[in-house]
Amino acid sequence: MKFAAGQESKKAGYKVPFGTVSITPRARQLINEALDSKWVTKGKYVHEFEERFAALFGMKHGVAVSSGTDADALACAALYDFGARRGDEVIVPALSFVATGNAVFQAGLTPVFVDVQRDSLNIDPALIEEKITPRTRAIMPVHLMGKPAAMDEICAIARRHNLRIIEDAAEAHGAEYKGRKIGAIGDMSCFSLYAAHIVTTIEGGMILTNCGQTAEALRSLRNHGMTGKFTFSRIGFSSKMNELEAAVGLGNLDIFGQILETRRRNMLYLIDRFRRLDRYFITLKEEAHEKLGPHAFSIILREGLPFGKDEFVSYIESQGVDSRNLFYSMPTQCPSYAFLGHRIGDFPQAEYCSDQGTHIGIHQDIEISQLDYAAEVVEAYLRRKGLTV
Ligand SMILES: Cc1ncc(COP(=O)(O)O)c(C=O)c1O
Repeated sequence: MKFAAGQESKKAGYKVPFGTVSITPRARQLINEALDSKWVTKGKYVHEFEERFAALFGMKHGVAVSSGTDADALACAALYDFGARRGDEVIVPALSFVATGNAVFQAGLTPVFVDVQRDSLNIDPALIEEKITPRTRAIMPVHLMGKPAAMDEICAIARRHNLRIIEDAAEAHGAEYKGRKIGAIGDMSCFSLYAAHIVTTIEGGMILTNCGQTAEALRSLRNHGMTGKFTFSRIGFSSKMNELEAAVGLGNLDIFGQILETRRRNMLYLIDRFRRLDRYFITLKEEAHEKLGPHAFSIILREGLPFGKDEFVSYIESQGVDSRNLFYSMPTQCPSYAFLGHRIGDFPQAEYCSDQGTHIGIHQDIEISQLDYAAEVVEAYLRRKGLTV
């Protein structure tokens, strides 16, 4: 099928661009209708988008917000309705897009970081319990690169310590864990609908929950903490989604199955194509118990290679393969977190993934021939370094 290319995919004329946006004919029609009606702030399309998004995941409530970061922040702030106090702690993986940690701070809570597993990129469940204190209120696993976190272990820990689970499923639309949909396991789940993501509203986010009380708190939080008419009962945010964004999202939901299928085809193709390079790179793997959400394809250099990540990335970029760093160990590699006093070496796996990792696009506008090209670029680089492929 033909998808309309967005600005991300046109950027800098990349041969293998990182992201894209699908804006369907129906989305264009809804946008025009909203503009004609002059009702462009939160209205009927946002409502329909919330209902359909929640239904897709078998969840009762969807609360649309203006970004994935706000989704994370509001989910954290909703903890106040369940006994949390300012400064209480939320356990998060050290490795993620910085939005995960920022959102906890934005909610007035404190992120407590746990190292990840190099192979899965996700929070190491064996290291969580030692970080739990009397002030811990929640665990926020991130399903990085659409790879499900170890939810059985995380749920068991949460049960033992009476903690809530907030899934950061920003990159994991369509992922499954032991037959359950990612985003339908925790008490709340948060999605980013940013342009490069699987379902997009261009900018936007969604929080799902089955709990009516939580949904009510979230709706109030996104609207300045309002409850009645101009009664402000919580310290809220201003993070509503508008009708134009919801229209783009509704168009995306119409073709969600097709987007997912094309992205999965691309992801599985690259997984297979990189198998022969396994001695050089750690790449995404899909195990029997899971389905990965096809967000992007991570490539981590193994130890002992005769080249470094920066040189490797410069080469593939020079050949037209767009890439992004595999994020950072927030507490030790983001200067904004220096005040926490962590030191390099405190989160060795997260730091390794960041120092040696990158990720490239597998989106719905990428053809198999482009993936072949990306793999050939990588192989050509290895040959230049005297390595066999
Ligand atoms: C894991 C993760 N969490 C949160 C976010 C924040 O989403 P947004 O960019 O929509 O604010 C992102 C964005 O890509 C993300 O990757």
